[in-house]
Amino acid sequence: MSLEFKEELKVYSKVLDDLTVKALVELRNKMIIFGLVKIIKEGKESVVFLGKDFEKNYVAIKIYRIYHSDFKMIRNLLVLDPRYERIKREKRNVVFYWCNREYRNLKLAYEKAKVNCPKPIASYQNILVMEFLGENEIPYPLLKDVKLDYEIAKDFYNQVIENLKKLKKIGLVHGDLSEHNILVGNDKIYLIDFSHGVKEDSIVYEKLFRRDLENINRFFSKFLSEDELVLEI
Ligand SMILES: Nc1ncnc2c1ncn2[C@@H]1O[C@H](COP(=O)(O)OP(=O)(O)OP(=O)(O)O)[C@@H](O)[C@H]1O
Ligand SMILES: [Mg+2]
Repeated sequence: MSLEFKEELKVYSKVLDDLTVKALVELRNKMIIFGLVKIIKEGKESVVFLGKDFEKNYVAIKIYRIYHSDFKMIRNLLVLDPRYERIKREKRNVVFYWCNREYRNLKLAYEKAKVNCPKPIASYQNILVMEFLGENEIPYPLLKDVKLDYEIAKDFYNQVIENLKKLKKIGLVHGDLSEHNILVGNDKIYLIDFSHGVKEDSIVYEKLFRRDLENINRFFSKFLSEDELVLEI
């Protein structure tokens, strides 16, 4: 079974290194993922796949690049998080921790804060498996690519603020929030890409929260007036 799967993965040999192929085979053996369907987005730091689980449900599989990552930057960010301040320095481990942090943050956001975000399913080494947010094999569009008018913008803004309040309540910050990390589907917004998130015990918590809110306000100020923007959460 795993040999066949390994063969199937060969079509992605340009984006999957040997270690990642091994890890995917292990996820398949653990029956967490059944297979990969296609690439959704190929970025600098990660490749996101549409995949399937054993029940034929779609899942999103985010694979952090081990060898192309700016691991110094990642390590410098991770050590500001008490959960990761004593991590090993080896390059691949740093990427694994980065992936693990996104999973843990997603878990807190989804389960504890009840934020609109993908349901986390598993994380293993540099691979994060989560709920797929989309329709007909196509991910929901990013907020930056959605056509907005005043009414819709006002509704989406309120939703984002509600989600930020929920995060604040449990002492978690997204840390990289902007129109680039929000998906929109069926009139609902979803926060994604939680790898920068820290808890309130980190020295950068307040700063990141302020920056997230500023980014959001900057985007929505194109549609809303100044006095409609929330300046503090
Ligand atoms: N759960 C998901 N469901 C559907 N599409 C997703 C999901 N997660 C990510 N995507 C798609 O993949 C793209 C990239 O995902 P994401 O923002 O998490 O990675 P990234 O920006 O490459 O991450 P990083 O900034 O850490 O390198 C998103 O813009 C979105 O289109
Ligand atoms: Mg992103």
